[in-house]
Amino acid sequence: MIHIPKAEYTRRRKALMAQMEPNSIAILPAAAVAIRNRDVEHVYRQDSDFQYLSGFPEPEAVIVLMPGRQHGEYVLFCRERNAERELWDGLRAGTEGAIRDFGADDAFPITDIDDILPGLIEGRDRVYSAMGSNAEFDRHLMEWINVIRSKAHLGAQPPNEFVALDHLLHDMRLYKSAAEVKVMREAARISCAAHVRAMQASRAGLYEFSLEAELDYEFRKGGAKMPAYGSIVASGRNSCILHYQQNDAVLKDGDLVLIDAGCEIDCYASDITRTWPVSGKFSAEQKAIYEIVLASQEAAFAEIAPNKHWNQAHEATVQVITAGLVKLGLLQGDVDELIASEAYKAFYMHRAGHWLGMDVHDVGEYKVGGEWRVLEVGMALTVEPGIYVSPDNQSVAKKWRGIGVRIEDDVVVTKQGCEILTGGVPKSVAEIEALMAGAR
Ligand code: GLY
Ligand code: MN
Ligand code: MN
Repeated sequence: MIHIPKAEYTRRRKALMAQMEPNSIAILPAAAVAIRNRDVEHVYRQDSDFQYLSGFPEPEAVIVLMPGRQHGEYVLFCRERNAERELWDGLRAGTEGAIRDFGADDAFPITDIDDILPGLIEGRDRVYSAMGSNAEFDRHLMEWINVIRSKAHLGAQPPNEFVALDHLLHDMRLYKSAAEVKVMREAARISCAAHVRAMQASRAGLYEFSLEAELDYEFRKGGAKMPAYGSIVASGRNSCILHYQQNDAVLKDGDLVLIDAGCEIDCYASDITRTWPVSGKFSAEQKAIYEIVLASQEAAFAEIAPNKHWNQAHEATVQVITAGLVKLGLLQGDVDELIASEAYKAFYMHRAGHWLGMDVHDVGEYKVGGEWRVLEVGMALTVEPGIYVSPDNQSVAKKWRGIGVRIEDDVVVTKQGCEILTGGVPKSVAEIEALMAGAR
């Protein structure tokens, strides 16, 4: 299995600590277990920031980073080994495993955190944490601070600065290392295979969930624990619902099906959309819309390179889509004016992409100092233009209504431009029709 090597976690912690103020402390909690319904839990997914710094896969854990601390800069609080619990729920690293396998300098039982952590915070000037994202943890943090304050008369020194960790950590996460790109390539490779399989399986009379099952099969077979987000399998007019998740309609001859799905490998997402005809052959109208979306995506790729800014790719898609809609008669008027008045938003209402990484909509600022961010090597993003003609749009001829097309690929910025990670699944009309014909 391709995964992030242990040394990389060490490197990340060191890089973060190098940016922290002297005499400071960073504290991050693991994700909580989420209850699905009585006695049933959701599949556990580690918090992305926590995972990024530790690779530690368990709940009920807290990372503490203290740059310059003599007795160890990295302390991990975690669950203790417990024969009874491990019999029911599986193995735990325990404090020994935290040190031996996960590189902690020191580890303590999570049940002792209230006794130990105030002592680690005491005397540090500044606390970094993900303030505001975990109310329960924020409350605990204030309790630990209050323990120190209550001892002020004994000379205890509570910190007086509380700083959001996000700014430092999320900027680090925005730049993908070679190891991260390798994992993302693997997630992309498996997701491409899943889309190919779903295309080959596509038949009128099946259900949207039948194709979802084909995706899930490839995801799991490839070693992915789960999809990176709820798979969207949207046929016919459902393709015009951007985050459609019902996935239970019958696939009909003559309809398109839009699948937006990607798996997650070692907590790195892939995010692919392909749109194809249920029965393998595009109609004239479907093809006309599809070709515009595809051309707009090509135009966007050309705008992704170092020194181009974040919005250039989006602007390129807006230009091509608006001109294309005018050509088909779906919009009337001057292209520049239609762009200025945002008339295209009736058909293309989302942006061309987002950062991609451990979170499918990954962290990282899109603007810096009020200006669109300039792209740099190692940034990963999606390119996902679409055209959606609402089934209720009375201002276009009936033949166009209910057609929804999105095409989405994942890219990493390189020195020369960008590497497309998701090229392994057909995209042109001819390629898609050929693949589907071969599967009949
Ligand atoms: N799958 C959600 C998105 O494409 O952003
Ligand atoms: Mn997507
Ligand atoms: Mn996306």
